[in-house]
Amino acid sequence: MNTFINNLPKAELHLHIEGSFEPALMFKIAQRNNIKIPYASVEEIEAAYKFDCLQDFLDIYYQGASVLIKEEDFYDLTYAYLTKCAEENIRHTEIMFDPQTHTERGVSFETVITGISKAVEDAKEKLNVSALLIMSYLRHLSEEEAFKTLEQSLPFKDKIKAVGLDSSEKGNPPEKFINVYKASIEAGYIPVAHAGEEGDSSYIWGAIDGLKIQRIDHGNNALQDSKLVSEIINRDIALTVCPLSNTALKVVDDLKNHPLKKMMDLGLSVTINSDDPAYFGGYLNKNYSDIQKALDLTKKDLIGLAWNSFRYSLLNSKEKEQYLKELFDYYQKHMKS
Ligand code: HPA
Ligand code: ZN
Repeated sequence: MNTFINNLPKAELHLHIEGSFEPALMFKIAQRNNIKIPYASVEEIEAAYKFDCLQDFLDIYYQGASVLIKEEDFYDLTYAYLTKCAEENIRHTEIMFDPQTHTERGVSFETVITGISKAVEDAKEKLNVSALLIMSYLRHLSEEEAFKTLEQSLPFKDKIKAVGLDSSEKGNPPEKFINVYKASIEAGYIPVAHAGEEGDSSYIWGAIDGLKIQRIDHGNNALQDSKLVSEIINRDIALTVCPLSNTALKVVDDLKNHPLKKMMDLGLSVTINSDDPAYFGGYLNKNYSDIQKALDLTKKDLIGLAWNSFRYSLLNSKEKEQYLKELFDYYQKHMKS
C-alpha cells in the first residue's frame, strides 16, 4: 500500500511554506544571517515542536520564520519543499505564504515573492513539479493591515493566483475581512480561507457567504451543521483536510476518530494535505498512509482523494485534464490488473 501511495500522482492544496521549514535548514539560515535563535542545535529545535493547540504552534512557527531575511532564504525554503514534492510524486502544489509574517519585520514584499517565485519557476523546469501561490492574510491582524498587503502585492499580481486567510481562528471571524476579500476578488485573486479548524460552523458560513471562498481549508467543524454540509455540497466547494495537523493540534484526538471517511460518505469533496509538514510529523505521503491505515481506506478511496486534489486545484481545465489523465493511467495500470 505504501508503494501505491508513494507513486500515486497527486496534488497538494493546503501547504504553508513557512510550515515546511525543517530544523536543519532553519539552523543553517539562522547562522548564515547571524541571527540568534533560542536553540543551540537542530535537536533542540526539534524538541521544541510540541503544542496543545493552534496558538501554541503559531508562536513557534512565527519565531522560526523570523530567520528568513533575504531573497535566497525564501528561495532555499521553497526549493527544499518542491524537491520533497518531486520525491513524493506531488505533481502540482498550491503554496500558501504569509507576507505579513515577514513585512512586519522589515523584509520587503518584493524579497519574499521574488525568492519564492524563482524557486517555483526553477522547480517547473528542473523537477517537473508545477506550483501556484496563495497569498494568505493573517487573521489576528486588522483588515486595514490586510489591505496594505493587498496593495503591496499588486505589482506582482501575475505571480499570485489566490488569497487565503490563516493564523488564530477563534475571535477572528471571516466577517472581519469582507471588504479586503471583495477588493482581492476585484483585483483578480481567487478566494480561499481557513475555516472550521478550531472555529465552529459559523466560521464556515461566514467564509462561504461573506468571503465567497471557492475552497475551505480544514472545514472539520462543518459536520456540526447538516444544513451547512448540504450547502457546501450544492456549491461544489472542496475541503482541504490535514490529518496529521489535526492530531498535532488536538483538533482530532486520534487518527482513528478522524472525520475524513464520514465526510466522504456524506458526499463532501475532500482532499488530503500536510499543512505544516516540518512541524506536524510528516509530508503528504505520510498523511495519506497514516490516514489510510487508521480508517482502513481502500485503493479506490485513495484514487478518489487524489482525483479531488487535481479536480479542485486552481489550475485551468487543460492543465487539470493532463494531470487527471496521468492519474487515470495510474488507475488503469494498478486497479484493473
Ligand atoms: N491554521 C491556521 N493558521 C495556520 C496554520 C493552520 O493550520 N498553519 C499555518 N498557519
Ligand atoms: Zn493551514
